[in-house]
Amino acid sequence: MTQTDKKNVIIFASGSGSNAQRLLEYFEHHPHIRVAALFSNNPNAYALKRAETFHVPALLFNREEFYKSDRVLQQLAAFKPALIVLAGFLWLVPQQLLQAYPNKIINIHPALLPKYGGKGMHGQHVHAAVLAAGEQESGITIHLIDEEYDKGEFILQERCPVLPQDTPEQLGARVLELEHRCLPLVVEQLLTRQPQA
Ligand code: GAR
Repeated sequence: MTQTDKKNVIIFASGSGSNAQRLLEYFEHHPHIRVAALFSNNPNAYALKRAETFHVPALLFNREEFYKSDRVLQQLAAFKPALIVLAGFLWLVPQQLLQAYPNKIINIHPALLPKYGGKGMHGQHVHAAVLAAGEQESGITIHLIDEEYDKGEFILQERCPVLPQDTPEQLGARVLELEHRCLPLVVEQLLTRQPQA
């Protein structure tokens, strides 16, 4: 397989991008898959810097461009994405993008959906809600996306314990570790599985 035959993964990230970092590391020398670009809606996202460190194009867009133009769609098309991964991306994906890439956009969420999902449920808000509810376990969900926040067919759920003295930060760190472990493997599996006969 030549460099140009590799399958292109595109990351969307709004913040720190530690999951993006894991994907960039895992696929840096992968024989069949590469991270081709990182898109962000946030000029201050540290994720943009992480992409640059790996010499991966980092593209920025604003709300107008995302929801009212086809600029992002056109930029994406140039990379011929095999898979788009929302890794801490906090805006709802518009219909035109969903239609352009059916079953090719996945999201990672730091809880066991369908609980603790939806608008505003991200980062420490999720872990604080899990603790407030007295849950004994939490975890991650990797799922296909649709037109609602944190909905769509599940691909993987993994669990971890909630410990009695946990703060949102401590629980968040445990969940993030699980995300880092699982996300590259799920992406790899999705892109290397044989088509069903
Ligand atoms: C991750 O925990 C991810 O699951 C979450 O944002 C964090 C981003 O961390 N996503 C959501 O809450 C989506 N609803 P990172 O920027 O360090 O990868």
